[in-house]
Amino acid sequence: MTTEIRLANKEDMPNINAIYNREIREGTATWHLTEWDEPERLEWFAEHTAENGEPILVYSEQGVIAGFAYLTKYRGARGGYRYTRESTVYVDEKFQGQGIGTCLLDALIQAARDYGLHVLVAWIDSENVASINLHKKMGFSTVGIEPETGHKFGSWRSNQEMAFVLGQEGDNE
Ligand SMILES: CC(C)(COP(=O)(O)OP(=O)(O)OC[C@H]1O[C@@H](n2cnc3c(N)ncnc32)[C@H](O)[C@@H]1OP(=O)(O)O)[C@@H](O)C(=O)NCCC(=O)NCCS
Repeated sequence: MTTEIRLANKEDMPNINAIYNREIREGTATWHLTEWDEPERLEWFAEHTAENGEPILVYSEQGVIAGFAYLTKYRGARGGYRYTRESTVYVDEKFQGQGIGTCLLDALIQAARDYGLHVLVAWIDSENVASINLHKKMGFSTVGIEPETGHKFGSWRSNQEMAFVLGQEGDNE
């Protein structure tokens, strides 16, 4: 087996959930407070299809899922929002700092270009230096900070919005 970035399949969901649920329990990258169960994760999987410009990518190393990244509809992606998506990337704690987040975000940006999207938006905890640096490195700029919109582990959390204008053409609608 090799190292690859590919579209996620149903069998990857327990691994994705394990990475995400650890962050719910121990971290502030997500402000969810309750771990996702299997049906919830499968519903999420069904909602995210590459055909709709919402791919889920996994980084697989020797068959082990080291991280994942995905695009989600921005404000429902209805009407005028159809060329925008929210982007998210997570790397398993054991694999962080090895360039995997960079590879995943790069592949996600390429998938967004292939789909003809125009803007990616990332919402990042304002103290998440690793993620802010990663997004800067990949071309995102800070748009602003929503102060104290979250609360986790007994303290207020602020949301840093970052965006990347891919610069693709729209249509005439
Ligand atoms: C943020 C995250 C995705 C980065 O992935 P990663 O594989 O560890 O990152 P990489 O090794 O590809 O590093 C990419 C860049 O991120 C920055 N970075 C990574 N770790 C860092 C750290 N501990 N401190 C500061 N900057 C860091 C650096 O700019 C680095 O580029 P460089 O190596 O050229 O200096 C990963 O730490 C993670 O999954 N964290 C928990 C979940 C999370 O925060 N997700 C983002 C939600 S918005």
